Amino acid sequence: MIRSTEDFRAMVKAARRVGTPLVAVRTADPASAIANISDSVNTKKGETPLVVWDFVTGIQGRNDSGKPAVAKILGENSPALGPGDVLGLAHRLAADTVLFLLNPQRVWEQPDVLQGIWNLRDVFKEGGQMLVLVTPPGSILPVELQNDVMTIDEPLPSAADLDQLLLATFESAKLREPNGETRQKAVDALIGLAAFPAEQALAMSLSKAGLDLGLLWERKRQAVEQTPGLTVWQGGETFDQIGGCDNIKRFLRAVLEGEEAPSVIVFVDEIEKAFAGSGTDMSGVKTEMTGTMLSWMQDRGADGLIFIGPPGAAKSAVAKAAGATAGIPTIAFDLSAMQSSLVGGSGERLRAALQVVDAISHGRSLWIATCNSITSLPPELRRRFTLGTFFFDLPQAEERKAIWDIYLAKWNLSGSLPDDEGWTGAEIKECARKAWRLRLPLCESAEYIVPVSRSAADQIESLRRQASGRFLSAAQPGIFTSEARQAAVAAGKRTFRDAD
Ligand SMILES: Nc1ncnc2c1ncn2[C@@H]1O[C@H](COP(=O)(O)OP(=O)(O)OP(=O)(O)O)[C@@H](O)[C@H]1O
Ligand SMILES: [Mg+2]
Repeated sequence: MIRSTEDFRAMVKAARRVGTPLVAVRTADPASAIANISDSVNTKKGETPLVVWDFVTGIQGRNDSGKPAVAKILGENSPALGPGDVLGLAHRLAADTVLFLLNPQRVWEQPDVLQGIWNLRDVFKEGGQMLVLVTPPGSILPVELQNDVMTIDEPLPSAADLDQLLLATFESAKLREPNGETRQKAVDALIGLAAFPAEQALAMSLSKAGLDLGLLWERKRQAVEQTPGLTVWQGGETFDQIGGCDNIKRFLRAVLEGEEAPSVIVFVDEIEKAFAGSGTDMSGVKTEMTGTMLSWMQDRGADGLIFIGPPGAAKSAVAKAAGATAGIPTIAFDLSAMQSSLVGGSGERLRAALQVVDAISHGRSLWIATCNSITSLPPELRRRFTLGTFFFDLPQAEERKAIWDIYLAKWNLSGSLPDDEGWTGAEIKECARKAWRLRLPLCESAEYIVPVSRSAADQIESLRRQASGRFLSAAQPGIFTSEARQAAVAAGKRTFRDAD
């Protein structure tokens, strides 16, 4: 895997050394990719002709030896050439020339472009030239070219690169070098940005008063959210604002504070919907996406958990609070927003999103997926979520008490509590909120609540049966079983009465 700019340059050099004629470079920052490649191939200063083509400017020499190379194939007046024309003429470029094409992915499915690229393979191999297709992250070559073009991903700037950039920016602003802690925090906020936006974000967040870390983060949030399907959550509620769910909270705390602690939480809500039909869908889109995601998680050794349970049982709330509790961002990963109507578009979006996660997590992400039903979840998906599947049942008496306490305090309410048998945390919250908004006693506000345990009693019972003996309990240590639950319910009722 290419992890640093050095690796990338070494890879380009190696490709050049063995005379690779066709290369596709996927990069978030074309200018830096071209600069890096130019430096890597141009060992004897300035002797390698470098030529760049783009849709607007046409073909141009990039260095002193590139200019005559262009003049030689075009003559004096150089019209702006289209991609097919340029590929048709390219075989006349001087030996050793490196020709960059910018954004060829926009047209490389066209027959003349596709053929033009392929035709250069043997000619360039012979003459030592190299064609570099400069494309955005996640783009995929047409099948006709996949065996002949070598794909290299340019990594985003590493922590060390960003630290350098930070120091250089401080220096040029004539500010004193920031201390170690500020440097670390600033690098954390910048990691995952391409070189250009990182530079801009830094420049904008820097004033005589120093560095505004909040602004830096804001810029990164915007950059991440440019990727379809990704949203960043920061701050918000922590585990202290969730009543009950003690087992999962304890487990997650240990993961978040333990060895190789994750630096980003990736939250996939209602994963069963995104993967429903995987393996059987006609278009193959979902099957492909499932495969891409699973192999990504496996390759990266990414850990994950699945939360299963009825609606309103705090599955999403726990997932969201995990990031805030550990002081790390949570990224909502919306697979349906990545599903594109274009063939191949979905895979491209998913890969681009995964690359962003890779970049901003330093390779340490914790995946949390929520799910309302078990049957539609492919087993290979569950296996990949290595930290286990937790079942979130309706809260028991003691847990409900803890939840009431949270919301009574939040809305400054008091008075006797309604009968909350079978209520979820969401319903308790809703009852408390209504009592506050409508200025009602809690028992009256409760008359406007229809608990899911009543409206969807059968579904909940069947979910429990399926979960029994198979999944970990979110509330108590160990595996969830219907028997243990019944015992706890009975015990809970007793304590409740005893306390009265
Ligand atoms: N145990 C709890 N403590 C505090 N708040 C809770 C608890 N359970 C639920 N809530 C509140 O209820 C609301 C809904 O909960 P949440 O979104 O986590 O449910 P969910 O299990 O994800 O349900 P769904 O399956 O419908 O997505 C949230 O605002 C959350 O804060
Ligand atoms: Mg939810």
